[in-house]
Amino acid sequence: MTATPRILITGANGQIGTVLAAALRCAHGPEAVLGTDIVAPPSSVLASRFTLLDVLDAPRLRTLIAQHQIDTVYHLSAVLSARGEADPRRTWEVNVTGLLNVLEAAREGLKVFFPSTIAVFGPNVPPEDTPDDAVLNPSTVYGMSKASGENWCAYYHERWGVDVRSLRYPGVIGYQSQPGGGTTDYAVEIFHQALATGSYQCFLSADQRLPMIYMDDAIRATLEIMAAPAARIGRRTSYNLQGLSFCPADIAVAIQAEMQRRGMAVPEFSYRPDFRQAIAASWPHSLDDSAARRDWGWQPRFGLRELVADMFDHLGTTIPCSV
Ligand code: SER
Repeated sequence: MTATPRILITGANGQIGTVLAAALRCAHGPEAVLGTDIVAPPSSVLASRFTLLDVLDAPRLRTLIAQHQIDTVYHLSAVLSARGEADPRRTWEVNVTGLLNVLEAAREGLKVFFPSTIAVFGPNVPPEDTPDDAVLNPSTVYGMSKASGENWCAYYHERWGVDVRSLRYPGVIGYQSQPGGGTTDYAVEIFHQALATGSYQCFLSADQRLPMIYMDDAIRATLEIMAAPAARIGRRTSYNLQGLSFCPADIAVAIQAEMQRRGMAVPEFSYRPDFRQAIAASWPHSLDDSAARRDWGWQPRFGLRELVADMFDHLGTTIPCSV
C-alpha cells in the first residue's frame, strides 16, 4: 500500500485548480491537500485547507512545504494567454520565476506537476495532429513562458532527478469553474451566456478550430500521469494532450441541438473576432497525443455530444432569470 501523499496546490482557485483540488481531496482525504492561491477562495471552499501564497514568495513556499510535510506540488498558478499580453514582463515573472521557485524547492525530493499548453506552438508547425516535438515558436509571452518552463522541468529532472511531470493542456471546458484570461475561454462562456441570455457573441472566428478537452478528462489525465510509474514517463518536457478538436460554429450547433432536444429556447450565436483571434490562429487545430497514449495509457472519454450533454446536465435544464 502506498502512503497518502501530502499535496500542495498553487493556483487552487483557478479554473483547473478548483476542480483538481476537489478531486485530490476525494482521492486522498481532505487533510492530504493544502490549497494555495494569491487571493482567498470563495466561501464554499473556505472550509477546506487553504492558505494564501504568492508563488513569487520563495521563502513562504519553502516554509509551507516544511510545515505541512509536503511531498507533491501541483503548480497551477499562471497568467494565461490573453491576459498575459497586457503585461508581458509580469507574465514572464509569475510563470517562469514561480515555476523556478517550485522546482528549487523540489530538489529536496518533491514530486511536481507542471501544466503546459498548446500555446507553446506557433504558426510554423503542421496545424493538424501537431507532434510533441514540433518546433516551438510561441506567439504569446504565455506560450514563451510555458515553452521555457517545459525545458526547465526537463533540466531539473536531468540534473537533480526531480520527478516533474507535465501535460500540454488544450482549451479546458467544465461546468465546475470559470476560466480567466485565456483564448479558449469562449468555449465555457458560450454555455453560460446561452443559458442566461439566449445569445452569445464569440470573440473568435466561427471556423477557428482548436484542440480542446472536457474538464473530467483533463483532471483524470492529470491524476493518471502523476500516478504512473516513473519509468513510464518518457517525456520530461511535456506531453501533448487532447480530448477533441472543434471550432466555435461546431459547439454552437451542438449547443443549439442539445437545447432543442431539452425543449429549451434555441440560442443565437454571432461572431466578432477581437485580438484573441490572432492568438488562436497561431495555435494548432489538433494535437498528436499518441506518446501520452502509449507511455501511460491516455484515453479521452468525452466527444463533443457527450461534453455538451454533460454540461447541460450540470448547469441546469431551465433558463435562469437574467439580471
Ligand atoms: N486555455 C489556455 C488559454 O487560452 C491555453 O492553454 O490561454
